[in-house]
Amino acid sequence: MNKNLTHWSNYWKDGNLTSLPQDFLENYDGEIEKFWNNTFSKVPVNGQVLDLCTGNGAIALLAVAYSENNEANLKVTAVDAAKVKIANLSIKHAHLNDYFQKINLISDCRVEEIQLASNSFDIITSQYGIEYCDWELSAKQVARLLKPDGQLVFISHANSTDIMTYMIQEQNEYNAIKEAGLFTALARYFDKNSSYKEMNRALKKTQKVLIKIYQQNKSILLKGLLDFLHYIVSVDKKVFLANENKVLSFYHQHLFAFARLEDVIGVSLKIKHSPNWYLAFEKSGLKLEDSGEVLQSGVHKAGIYYKFLKPSKT
Ligand SMILES: C[S@@+](CC[C@H](N)C(=O)[O-])C[C@H]1O[C@@H](n2cnc3c(N)ncnc32)[C@H](O)[C@@H]1O
Repeated sequence: MNKNLTHWSNYWKDGNLTSLPQDFLENYDGEIEKFWNNTFSKVPVNGQVLDLCTGNGAIALLAVAYSENNEANLKVTAVDAAKVKIANLSIKHAHLNDYFQKINLISDCRVEEIQLASNSFDIITSQYGIEYCDWELSAKQVARLLKPDGQLVFISHANSTDIMTYMIQEQNEYNAIKEAGLFTALARYFDKNSSYKEMNRALKKTQKVLIKIYQQNKSILLKGLLDFLHYIVSVDKKVFLANENKVLSFYHQHLFAFARLEDVIGVSLKIKHSPNWYLAFEKSGLKLEDSGEVLQSGVHKAGIYYKFLKPSKT
């Protein structure tokens, strides 16, 4: 698992609300939203909610929306190890500003290192999140942070989802792009280990390799990269230098997208190889009450949900 979270910080900085922007224009909706609304309906009206690995606060935001729409008074805290801030959210979702302001968002904080008071939350939630943490340490934290009779409810990645199949395809394309030398050529140039001329020559070689791959796999990702490569290698040096920042940002965007894919796929495979991973929460004293699939649009497996209870006497 990738411990350096720059790839997530960078993603949240762009104002994305969920980790699946291709599937959800705004926040999680449909069955996932229903699942969370149903979950929040069972929390005491003045309940304390903690969302772990919150990213830009998608589930925290659903908790606030539920509270506002149902005359509840949930107090919502959200934690992520990446750098996240409310201001990032306003970039693409200014109309949700009032809701964002109600979230106590704690950035740059690993679940394993949360310092919040023990026995203080009625419910701890997570979506595509807690499986990214150290399972034993985060299970101990959850057991410590929950009030007696409090609940841990999370949705983890499911294996064999359509999302995963798509991601693995994209990962293969990124691997081919990496092998063709694109990232190395740009990294060497931007780290000042190669001249403009050397970079240009290396990129022309990369371009040839990628054109061949594109002839067999006409993917959107390869097309976008080839268009960009064509631009970089064909403009003259002056124009390139004037646009160097744009090239750097394009390079970073792809590098981080690749790292996020590796992270998501890595975690999903880790779960696949340890199907009983969730028992770490039972070992920490919680009791598994329910588990099952969460669908999206009635057919796609969006994830697996787990509901644990912290018994009042452990
Ligand atoms: C796939 S994203 C999910 C974000 C959000 N829950 C969502 O559904 O949109 C996983 C998140 O887990 C965070 N993360 C990974 N390891 C973590 C840890 N040990 N403690 C806290 N957050 C972590 C990452 O920074 C990233 O934002």
